[in-house]
Formats: sequence, C-alpha cells, structure tokens
Amino acid sequence: MIVIAHLSDLHLDGGVRAEERARAVLDHLEGLPFELAALLVTGDVADHGLPAEYEQARRLLVSRHPVLVGPGNHDERAAFRTVLLGQAGPAGSADAAGPAGSADAAGPAGSADAAGPAGSADAAGPAGSADAAGPAGPVNQVHRGDGFVLALCDSSVPGRDHGLLDDRTLAWLEEEVAATPAGVPVLVAFHHPPAALHEPFIDGIRQFGEERLAELARRRPSIAGFLCGHAHTPAATTFAGRPLLVAPGVTSTLRLPWERRAHREDVVHLDLPPALAFHVLSADGRLTTHFRTVPVRPTPGGFTKPV
Ligand SMILES: [Fe+2]
Repeated sequence: MIVIAHLSDLHLDGGVRAEERARAVLDHLEGLPFELAALLVTGDVADHGLPAEYEQARRLLVSRHPVLVGPGNHDERAAFRTVLLGQAGPAGSADAAGPAGSADAAGPAGSADAAGPAGSADAAGPAGSADAAGPAGPVNQVHRGDGFVLALCDSSVPGRDHGLLDDRTLAWLEEEVAATPAGVPVLVAFHHPPAALHEPFIDGIRQFGEERLAELARRRPSIAGFLCGHAHTPAATTFAGRPLLVAPGVTSTLRLPWERRAHREDVVHLDLPPALAFHVLSADGRLTTHFRTVPVRPTPGGFTKPV
C-alpha cells in the first residue's frame, strides 16, 4: 500500500509556536508503525524566507521516511536551496548538506529513503533540475518511488503571493511524466491550488495560468491527481478531471466565508490543532485521502486508544 503523508504551510518563524505544531505532526509520523512512501511538504516552510528559518526547518524535517519539500509564496528560493536543500553551497556541494541534502547522490531513479532529513527525496531529478535553472530558478523536484512518481513543482513567483507554473517548470514536468513507465501513476504537487476554492482571499492568490497545466494533464493520463497547500484548510475538489487535494495548514486554519464575521482577525483560527493529509494510492492509480488532526501536546497513549 502506497501512503504519502502530506504537510503544508509550516510557516516556521524562529518562534516556539510554529515549531511545536510542526514537531507534533512530524513526531506523529515518526511514531507510525508503518513506512510511508513519502513525506511531502508543499511550501510555506518558512514564514519570511529567512536563512535562520530554513535552519529551523532543516533541524525539524529529519525523518525516517523519504522527505520531499518544496517552496511556497512565503519562501525564498535562494535560501531554500542553499540552507534547506543544501544545494549550490560555496563549494558546490549540495550533498554534504544534510537534509534535503543528498538529492543528487540519489540519481534520477533514486529512492530517497536512506536520505537524511529532508532528505531528499531523492529527489533526484529535481534537485538536479533545480540547479540547472540557476539559483533564482524554480525549485522542481521528483521522487521516483516504488510504483509511483511524485513530481513537486515550484509554483511560487518571487516577490508575489499568487502562483504560476512557469514555462521551464511545465517543460520539466512534461519530461518527468514522459519518462515514467506506462502504468505508473504520477502525482503532481505544488503550493498554490490551480482552481478556486470559494474563499475570496485565497482565490485571489491561487495558481493562475492553469489552463496550460490542464492541457498537459489531458496529454498525460498517467497523472493521477494534484496535491497542494496554501489555503490553510483541508479541501478536496477536481482539476482537469483529476482529484485536487489541499493539505491543511500546520500553523493555522483558514476560516471559511460562512464561518466568520467581517473582522480581519477572523480570517484564521490559531487554536485549532495542526493537521495533515494521508494520500493512499491504489495500484490502479485511484487516490483516497484521509485528513488527520494531531494534538500539539499528545496525551500518553492518545493514538493507541481503540475506536
Ligand atoms: Fe501559507
């Protein structure tokens, strides 16, 4: 059974609150009596894109599961690459890096597992292609797992809050999907949802130019679904005839229009627990998603009590 844990919007800011919430979710995953096929983080890892925030993320995103982490609109590509992914260091030694470190070593078909922290997912290609794009180019990464492919696209637009898959990213994605053997499902992930979610603020900064991605999906039936974050609310809809699954925000939860008054401070809940999504991929490419909340301070035995 292929199970992918999907986190989004950690917004690490050097403070205790965001770290505690991220730690609670990661500890839950580390304690599972099961090997996840991947641990996906779809952006807004840092709150301000600062190197110190990526140091914090690098310490946190250490897992026994293969980790694949990409940027969102709060992230900054250069710091994300050098500090979190460990790429393009002064000596050009991405690998030494640690967390997402070893991507390169893994090779295109590599399997992320052994990897350290963010391990990188082996991302082999990705990291690879990321470098090819230059330090300011999109951070695209692919994880070729056993029986599935996870392609994590950079939908961020430097300096802006909305998203877009630029031409390099779409060309990269098409190549990665084309290189996937027939019958192997591909999950395409990014930060920004490419469809409206009926929340005006988020819809105003969603991923635009989505018709190009929809055309690509029509050409590539092996794409089994799309995974994203950004909205800070668990949601499920469709895009280009495939599931579009939105991971909840680890740091906060969006109040939906029918849940809030007019005040700006009502936009997010800060007191709801952190949460994540588990995506289960069947051999025939069918996706099932479970959403899970996690207490920030788990009670002993809290996850083992019989239902
Ligand atoms: Fe966010």
